[in-house]
Amino acid sequence: MAKALEDANTIFSGQAMNLPPIPIWQAPTGSTGGPKLAAAISAAGGVGAMGLTWTDPEIAADWVTEVRSSTSNPFYVNFVLAFEPIALDAVLDAGAPIITFSWGSPAPFVDRVRRSGARLGIQVFDRESILHAIQFEPDFLVVQGIEAGGHVQSRSPLGEALMEAKELAQGIPILAAGGISTREHIQETLGMGADGVILGTRFLATVESKAHQEYKALLVAHSETSLTKCFDGGWPNAPHRVLRNSTFDTWQRAFEPLPDHRPGEGRVVAKTTNGDSILRYEMASPQEGMEGEIEAMCLYAGTGVREIRGIPTVADLLAELWP
Ligand SMILES: Cc1cc2nc3c(=O)[nH]c(=O)nc-3n(C[C@H](O)[C@H](O)[C@H](O)COP(=O)(O)O)c2cc1C
Repeated sequence: MAKALEDANTIFSGQAMNLPPIPIWQAPTGSTGGPKLAAAISAAGGVGAMGLTWTDPEIAADWVTEVRSSTSNPFYVNFVLAFEPIALDAVLDAGAPIITFSWGSPAPFVDRVRRSGARLGIQVFDRESILHAIQFEPDFLVVQGIEAGGHVQSRSPLGEALMEAKELAQGIPILAAGGISTREHIQETLGMGADGVILGTRFLATVESKAHQEYKALLVAHSETSLTKCFDGGWPNAPHRVLRNSTFDTWQRAFEPLPDHRPGEGRVVAKTTNGDSILRYEMASPQEGMEGEIEAMCLYAGTGVREIRGIPTVADLLAELWP
């Protein structure tokens, strides 16, 4: 514990930032995690996260304010740069203390982040992406492995990607993400030289997460994932790791036909709380309040889903992961 505590607190070496004691960070999980989950993780001594790429700027700012008002511990906001980060100004103005970027070059946005005083993290996954990221002198790198749930930039197992990053990162702290959901796996990853670990799927199956109850139950019940391009509605050609479900199995049994030729394509599978339709093969994952065929929606999950056995509170989960 003492060693890890020191690790966690020195991740931004030489630059005072009061990091909580546990080197376990939440992964940005689009808007599926929500502010309550991020706040609970930061308050319990980890580092919470929100993925706000697809969130309206006003709501994004409100969520940052909500997390800030429930904990003084740091948390971060992620933007996927395959899309314009429309809420970046709003979250910085609302006081987001750390920003991470994934899926694209941060070049147009680094100055804006720095001017606000926020810390900067960049997701990397191979040699080129590491060399590109370090020229921006980020405060830390996020290394993603192919085991990750959600959209997967990586083509290598986490261990390999981590070794490559350690070799090239010139001392920049490294957080490791992908398929991690147990205490043993956390210790193993820290033992390989990561300065912290990032868990996405494991935190979705907690009481505080705003993932749909049925999605949480499926994360507990199922263990097999697939890396696919099946759920491409809204973000074509980006591989993602999901639980196998009825939509995926039907499409695969039909020999994975291309868009416009897929079984059940264009049919509404669920509705959002506003009554908006979610079509089969859309990238949206199930959140609380949605109604319809929840099981048929895109159920992102990393390989560590096989170790998820229940839906604890964040405090209980962190006590188990970091006793
Ligand atoms: C539901 C879900 C949504 C995700 N959304 C994002 C996102 O908005 N931005 C991003 O960079 N990564 C996103 N990811 C990927 C995570 O950042 C991270 O790489 C992954 O969760 C780590 O693997 P694990 O889920 O096995 O822990 C998402 C993952 C999941 C499961």
